Amino acid sequence: MTMVGAHGHAPYITVSIIMNKKNIISRTVQDLPPSGIRVFFDLVIGMKDVISLGVGEPDFVTPWNIRETAIYAIEQGYTSYTSNKGLIELRQEISRYLKRRYGLDYDPEEEILITVGVSEGFDLAVRALTDHGDKLLIPEPSYVAYGPITSLCGGQPLYLKSDPAAGFKVSAGQIERNTDKKTKGLILNYPNNPTGASYSKKELLDIAKVIERHDLIMISDEIYCDLTYDFDHTPFPTLPRMKERTVYLNGFSKSFAMTGWRIAYACGPKDIIAAMTKIHQYTMLCASVISQMAAREALKNSDRAVQEMKREYRRRREFIISRLNEIGLSCHKPEGAFYAFPSIKDTGLSSLTFAQELLKREKVAAVPGTAFGPMGEGYLRMSYATSYENLKEAMARIERFVARIKPTT
Ligand SMILES: Cc1ncc(COP(=O)(O)O)c(C=O)c1O
Repeated sequence: MTMVGAHGHAPYITVSIIMNKKNIISRTVQDLPPSGIRVFFDLVIGMKDVISLGVGEPDFVTPWNIRETAIYAIEQGYTSYTSNKGLIELRQEISRYLKRRYGLDYDPEEEILITVGVSEGFDLAVRALTDHGDKLLIPEPSYVAYGPITSLCGGQPLYLKSDPAAGFKVSAGQIERNTDKKTKGLILNYPNNPTGASYSKKELLDIAKVIERHDLIMISDEIYCDLTYDFDHTPFPTLPRMKERTVYLNGFSKSFAMTGWRIAYACGPKDIIAAMTKIHQYTMLCASVISQMAAREALKNSDRAVQEMKREYRRRREFIISRLNEIGLSCHKPEGAFYAFPSIKDTGLSSLTFAQELLKREKVAAVPGTAFGPMGEGYLRMSYATSYENLKEAMARIERFVARIKPTT
């Protein structure tokens, strides 16, 4: 097979012909596990009448004022690149928003970078901070990207067990015990995907002391901050002396139901943001101008819509948690996000078998806890970002399924 060279040079032969196929893909990528969520959802594709508790995205459509702003931006001809860091008007709005909400001070010129999702912000942060062999501590079960991205950057993910008995949280002591000279920092996500756990200010203060004592960096993924139900969310950089040690990641996907817009932001010390921007300018150039304009509108005028969505998620949380416990799948009450993480240990089935059988027999899709690391064995992640009606029907089906398998266990 021949291809035309990227710059119009003479055709060249693709490497697949002249190289042994095994060697084409880098060793690091070969060793990367596929996302457990994807593997499972390949099974779901093509099945009819499935109720999915699998997806990690809001079932709401983006509020109208945000959509309208984007439409208007297109009509007005905003179709070009922006500065690498993102529109200054959006960075200023983020700065004002963080000040208003949390009393945080970030300089829009040098301490804020607009990214293509928290996904990109996270990747940039790890790339900017990690040298070969550096260790990053990651509480597990964990969001699927953290370990693989750390490995791709040459770092070493070191997983800490989030104790179910402690509401799926890691303690300051645990972080300290696992820190050595090669430890660069901690990746913390709260409220958490997949467990829904979040941390109180007191717990965060204890963690902050360890971060300071061992000269660590914190990558704090707070994408679910607006979905904290039982207490006020405390951003990590608001803690004493933590602003200079934290890369604060947040975005629009969850709070404003904007997953498809691919827009987020990273805040941090100016040298870290400059390093991240250096990578971003080569890989991404900038985020979509239309999404940036929409994001600005989101921050300015959507408080009510955010609160309404949060109220509905909370209503669903009360329902799903009480139903799961009633059914016999014991489930702690998640403090945030939109995930329940029930134990299926009493059924005697593995997470994967439970999820596969539930899908086959009752057409309910939920993610095996092992998709979030081996410590997720014995659990399932169920997203309640789906309608109340769907949740009711899903719980009835799960109840039937559990009743049927229980006698054999
Ligand atoms: C914890 C966490 N971080 C980051 C992301 C990705 O967010 P974004 O859509 O902003 O890339 C997700 C998406 O599910 C998530 O759960």
